Amino acid sequence: MLRLKWIFATTLLIFCFGFCVLLLNLQDFCTICRKRIYSPSLRSATVRETFQLRPKIQCERNPPFLVLLVTTTHSQKEARNVIRQTWGKERLIGDKLVSTYFLLGAGTNPRLQGELTGESNTYNDIIQRDFIDSYYNLTLKTIMGIEWICTHCPQTTFVMKTDTDMFVNPLYLVELLVKKNQTTDVFTGSLRLHDAPIRNNHSKYYISTTEYPLAKYPPFCSGTGYVFSVDVAQKIQNVSSTVPFFKLEDVFVGMCLEKVNINLQNLHTKPTFHAYKKPFTICNYRKLVTSHGVRPRELYLFWDVLRRSRDEQC
Ligand SMILES: *[C@@H]1O[C@H](CO)[C@@H](O)[C@H](O)[C@H]1NC(C)=O
Ligand SMILES: *[C@@H]1O[C@H](CO)[C@@H](O)[C@H](O)[C@H]1NC(C)=O
Ligand SMILES: *[C@@H]1O[C@H](CO)[C@@H](O)[C@H](O)[C@H]1NC(C)=O
Ligand SMILES: *[C@@H]1O[C@H](CO)[C@@H](O)[C@H](O)[C@H]1NC(C)=O
Repeated sequence: MLRLKWIFATTLLIFCFGFCVLLLNLQDFCTICRKRIYSPSLRSATVRETFQLRPKIQCERNPPFLVLLVTTTHSQKEARNVIRQTWGKERLIGDKLVSTYFLLGAGTNPRLQGELTGESNTYNDIIQRDFIDSYYNLTLKTIMGIEWICTHCPQTTFVMKTDTDMFVNPLYLVELLVKKNQTTDVFTGSLRLHDAPIRNNHSKYYISTTEYPLAKYPPFCSGTGYVFSVDVAQKIQNVSSTVPFFKLEDVFVGMCLEKVNINLQNLHTKPTFHAYKKPFTICNYRKLVTSHGVRPRELYLFWDVLRRSRDEQC
C-alpha cells in the first residue's frame, strides 16, 4: 500500500514536472511566434525613435493616392497654416485621397520647437528628425521624407516633394496622373536635363570642383516640385546611402535616379511644373501643377479665386 502511494506520488510529480516544462516551452514558443507575427510593428517601433515627431496615421487602412511632402522650417508657421487651408488640405479628388505632411530638421529655438510640437498634436502632419535644419541640409530633409514614406506609408501610389513657397494644384496633378495610367517607374516635374554646376563663388548654388568635378549634372527635376511613384521612393531609399552626399537635394535625387536607371518624363506635352512664378489668371492656374515664389497671402487669394470660379469656362 505504501509502495503504491509512493508510485502514485512519483508519477504525479513527474507529470507535474512535464506539464510545467511543456507550459514554459509553449510560452517560449508563443513569444517567438508573437515576435514573428508582429515583427513589422517592432521594426517600426525602432524606426519611430529616429523621428522626433511623426504623424500617427495608418496608411494601410486608408491608402492615399498621393502624399505631398513639403520641406519647411520652424519659422514658417504662417505658410504651413495657409497650405493646410488651401492646397495641402486633406481631400478626396474623385476617389483619390491626397494628404500633406511637413518635413523639418531639429530646431535650435526651444519656443519654436514647443510650438511645432503643438502643431504636430493639433494637425498630425509633422515629420521631424534631429539633423541641423539648414539650407544645405535640404538633402537630409528630403531623404527623411522618402524614408518615412518607405517605412510608414508605402501604400500610397505617388509622392510629391515640394516647398513652402509654392502654389500646388493637386486637382490638376491627380487628373494628369490618372490620365497617365502608369503607376511604377514614374518620375516627373520640371525637367533639368543639361544643367551644369555653377562655378561662380558668389552664387547660392556655387559648387566647387572638389564638391563636384564633372562639367554636367545628371538629369534631375527642379526641387520646387517633383512627383514619383512609390516604387521609385523604395529605389532611391535603397541607393541613397551609397551616393556621396551632395548639398543640392534635387541634384542628389537625380544622382540616385541615374544609379537605379529611372528616366525622367514630362507629365504633359505642355509645361505644367513651373519653377518660376507663373502670372496669375484663373485659366493659367487651373492647368498648372506648380508655380514658384508665391507668398502665403497670395496663395490664399489665388486659391480662393480658383475655388469661387469653378463654374467659369476657360
Ligand atoms: C547637417 O546636419 C548634420 C547633422 O545634424 C550636421 O552635423 C551638419 O553640420 C549639418 N550641415 C549643415 C550644412 O548645416
Ligand atoms: C491602362 O493601362 C493598362 C495596362 O497598362 C491597360 O490595360 C488599360 O487599358 C489602360 N487604361 C486606360 C484608360 O488607358
Ligand atoms: C572666388 O573666385 C574668384 C575667381 O575665381 C577668386 O579670385 C576668389 O578668391 C574666390 N573667392 C572665394 C571667397 O573663394
Ligand atoms: C534594394 O537593393 C537590394 C540589394 O541590392 C535588391 O535586392 C532589392 O531588390 C532592391 N529593392 C528595390 C526596391 O529596388
